[in-house]
Amino acid sequence: MARYDEKKYITLSKTESKSIHVQIYTRFKESIESNVLKNGDRVPSSRSLASELNVSRGTVESAYSMLLGEGVFISKGQAGTFVNVPQALINNIKDPLQKSKAITSKNPNQTANNCSHVFLPGCPAYDAFPRKIWSRLASNRMRGFSANEMSYNDPMGYLPLRESIASYLRISRGVACDTEQVVITNGYQGALDLICKTLKLTGENVWMEDPGYIFATKLLEDIGAKIVRVPVDEDGMIVSFGVKNAGSAKLAIVTPSHHSPLGMTLSWSRRTELLEWASIRDSWIVEDDYDGEYRYSGYPLPSLKSLDQYDRVIYAGSFSKTLFPSLRLGYVVIPQKLVDEFTKKLYLLRANYSFKAQLIVNDFIAEGHFSKHLNKMRGLYAERRELTSQCLTEILGERINITANKNGMHFVAKLHANDSDVDISKAFNELGHGIHPLSNWTSDPNQKGLIIGFTNVINKKTAELAAIGLRDCFVR
Ligand SMILES: Cc1ncc(COP(=O)(O)O)c(C=O)c1O
Repeated sequence: MARYDEKKYITLSKTESKSIHVQIYTRFKESIESNVLKNGDRVPSSRSLASELNVSRGTVESAYSMLLGEGVFISKGQAGTFVNVPQALINNIKDPLQKSKAITSKNPNQTANNCSHVFLPGCPAYDAFPRKIWSRLASNRMRGFSANEMSYNDPMGYLPLRESIASYLRISRGVACDTEQVVITNGYQGALDLICKTLKLTGENVWMEDPGYIFATKLLEDIGAKIVRVPVDEDGMIVSFGVKNAGSAKLAIVTPSHHSPLGMTLSWSRRTELLEWASIRDSWIVEDDYDGEYRYSGYPLPSLKSLDQYDRVIYAGSFSKTLFPSLRLGYVVIPQKLVDEFTKKLYLLRANYSFKAQLIVNDFIAEGHFSKHLNKMRGLYAERRELTSQCLTEILGERINITANKNGMHFVAKLHANDSDVDISKAFNELGHGIHPLSNWTSDPNQKGLIIGFTNVINKKTAELAAIGLRDCFVR
């Protein structure tokens, strides 16, 4: 095992535009890339490196936390911190900044797989997922490989899973639905794609909350829908604005339980207005209930669908938040009136997403792990939310103002008018993070903020180190 001679390899420059912890981070990556540091080598303790380089220990810890967050380093408790990069991956980490630029230029939305999860919004806690249980269920299912499993399956989805979802929704979200109304989709994005195709939304007016979920907006733009941005206030979507400006829209997309991204709930009166509008105009409503399970005070609010006496709401849920996103599984509850049209479309598409995964998810629900996991995550996320908002407030002080509501898996830290959320996010993400600037999610130039996830903030240290990194991006 090599001893890393930090004096020889880490030279810091006060004139370089990068802050000191980023320089340390970059030097380590360069050392790994040039094979000076190899997989399994122990790196100096933060205390000794700080004293060698004559910088504060916190500065070194910031750099280490980025490297740990990316999995380039691994901490083995008392034994120390080690390089954790298999040789095969070394080429992929050559120049992190160049790499992130290359990725950004190809696909501006692609961050999730290439960044630390610490503040990444919209991801469940990966450290708290019951992997052992999942692995057991998955290996049981992988062993069985019947002809039926290998064949084309029901495009509506695995029937027992649809039944499990229907009964879960009836009890937990107040959605009165039959199994025939439930279909399995390729996550929420796949659900929206299916809805766009079935309702033939190209060229049609569609209401979107403003600000609103960026990936839904982009999909609608892509299929050529005419997006009508409907502003939100503390009661959620301002329905009267939509009615006045595009009353004949074919669809409205809303996040009633926890507005994405600002976090308020759609008030009772707005729910009523929206349902009445849809009923009078024969329009449809998509209820995106992406994280409605996570409410940390009081009971989860009933879904909009539970009030839908006119049968106008298409309810969409996703296992991305309750289990994990790489499953790519979601579900839709189709209004009775649309079941035939959706069924035809699903058969046409020969849809059938991740069939093995559907079997495993159903076992996970049937054995009671799903509800246990959700209960546990509610407690954990409430703690992590508190911890993250406290640390950010302590470290960033008056620079930010965190939205007050206490639901979901992210919050928005509002910024002052003279701070650019785009520049700050860009600088922070170049360090390997994955936060989103609010202004990319809205047409309103006055709304500036950072959309920050807290579910993967595993302890105070992690929160502090990431918050210090973020603070440095304000002054650059
Ligand atoms: C508003 C919103 N809806 C839905 C989803 C779930 O998307 P998917 O199921 O495609 O992963 C997310 C994920 O971040 C989201 O933020």
